Amino acid sequence: MKGTRGMLVVFEGLDRSGKSTQCEKLVQTLRNEGERVEHMRFPNRTTPVGQIINNYLTGEIQQEDHVIHLLFSANRWESAQAIENHIKSGTTVIIDRYSYSGCVYSAAKQNKTMDLAWCRHPEEGLPRPDLCLFLDLSSEEAAKRGGFGTERYEKQDLQARVRDLYAEMGQHPEEREDIVVINAGRSIEELQRDILKVVQVSSRQLDTHGRELRRM
Ligand code: TMP
Ligand code: MG
Repeated sequence: MKGTRGMLVVFEGLDRSGKSTQCEKLVQTLRNEGERVEHMRFPNRTTPVGQIINNYLTGEIQQEDHVIHLLFSANRWESAQAIENHIKSGTTVIIDRYSYSGCVYSAAKQNKTMDLAWCRHPEEGLPRPDLCLFLDLSSEEAAKRGGFGTERYEKQDLQARVRDLYAEMGQHPEEREDIVVINAGRSIEELQRDILKVVQVSSRQLDTHGRELRRM
């Protein structure tokens, strides 16, 4: 990845789909190749906004649906300038969850005034990923994996709606260009190999076209 700017790569998928593991492996692989890489995750629970989100997810506090949605988005906006600065300075940024999670988890609540389009509005203007790796796993398989069920959204019916909404969001004209679906029901090593190939292809495209950083 020797282009003029760093890449913005995001991982998406259901809870327990293996995103965090694959994110770490990709960061490590690229760093071993001498690449400058910044690793982030959303929600970023370390900021004041992130602490409210954490307390909401663990069930300590309640929040109105629209309010928590906007806080998740605000939590990305807190880091937007930093992401842009990294990318412009040639550092690749790899993020565990991004706007897609923001939209699909909120829309899965089926609140009458929060469809996908409404949920996407506050994301507009954020740095747009060059590549979104969607680790696809059925909600049944996700539920079988360890630890599922401890946080607010880790319920199988909600996760099933989330998966459908990811598919629906994948039809959006911009998201359709960015998303690559990875079958996550395979071994860690198989996924890792697949993901690296996809990232390399995307990186070469970026080198060829030298695109400006785009916005959501
Ligand atoms: P995590 O398990 O990756 O830490 O994410 C915590 C939960 O927050 C997960 O169920 C997905 C959800 N989420 C949203 O609802 N909106 C968002 O914007 C993000 C980033 C995550
Ligand atoms: Mg989780």
